[in-house]
Amino acid sequence: MTQSILIVGATSGIAEAVARIYAGRGARLFLVARNAEKLNVIASDLSVRGASDIATYVMDANDTVSLPEMLDTAWRRFSRIDAVLIAYGTLPDQVRCETDINYAVREFRTNAESIISCLASLAIRFEKQGDGVIAVIGSVAGDRGRASNYLYGAAKAAIDTFASGLRSRLLKSGVHVLTIKPGFVDTPMTRGLPLPSILLAPAKKVAVDIVRAIEKKRDVLYTPWFWQFIMLIILHIPNLVLKRIKL
Ligand SMILES: NC(=O)c1ccc[n+]([C@@H]2O[C@H](COP(=O)([O-])OP(=O)(O)OC[C@H]3O[C@@H](n4cnc5c(N)ncnc54)[C@H](OP(=O)(O)O)[C@@H]3O)[C@@H](O)[C@H]2O)c1
Repeated sequence: MTQSILIVGATSGIAEAVARIYAGRGARLFLVARNAEKLNVIASDLSVRGASDIATYVMDANDTVSLPEMLDTAWRRFSRIDAVLIAYGTLPDQVRCETDINYAVREFRTNAESIISCLASLAIRFEKQGDGVIAVIGSVAGDRGRASNYLYGAAKAAIDTFASGLRSRLLKSGVHVLTIKPGFVDTPMTRGLPLPSILLAPAKKVAVDIVRAIEKKRDVLYTPWFWQFIMLIILHIPNLVLKRIKL
């Protein structure tokens, strides 16, 4: 059966790689992003790659007032949505966050509050539909606050906790919630950062893991898989030690 997939943040490097997999399977795609020009280029490419129907919707994720209209349009277009991927986000400048508090709050709004609004609004729609998968991209950074990126980490932790509660709430309605925790992924977000190349995964590889986790209705996905073990070690570092090391 042709699947209908909604992607919020469709111009993200990870989202585009996921959309390519679904397009190759002939899925119907409803793509949401704030940059119309970029979105149209991606939509044309996905059409060539085999998507059976594509709709685009331009919206800034922080404009949460527009969420109901966007969701109405998506459900009207495809009558049902099999899976949604919430993929947008920013990587805040942690040093700036330490002195520019308004900037820090704005970044938290983009990376946590607006995503929680999106999850909450989607939950109501999917609950009515009675099935489907809600997948949201968090990060391994949400597992433990570290000096190098704790504003971003705090936002991802908020998503993780919200998604965990939502998963329990929606269980009886047949709706599944997946939290995706990537490690370092090679996308515009990480371009230019001094990351160890051995740990930098291609977006294509992460996308394969995401699509499989949606299919298998996994609760939490660490991608690539070895991040689960890296985070297990980081989670077990005592606070006494963690606060003294630059991680
Ligand atoms: N790359 C990594 O190493 C990594 C690791 C862990 C988690 N993640 C998470 O993975 C997700 C996807 O990131 P990515 O790696 O694919 O990075 P990316 O290619 O830089 O994508 C980020 C996307 O977020 C969009 N965005 C930012 N603010 C927005 C807003 N206010 N409204 C609408 N869209 C907005 C950007 O839109 P524009 O195209 O208009 O700028 C862009 O499409 C993010 O949640 C990120 O935190 C990434």
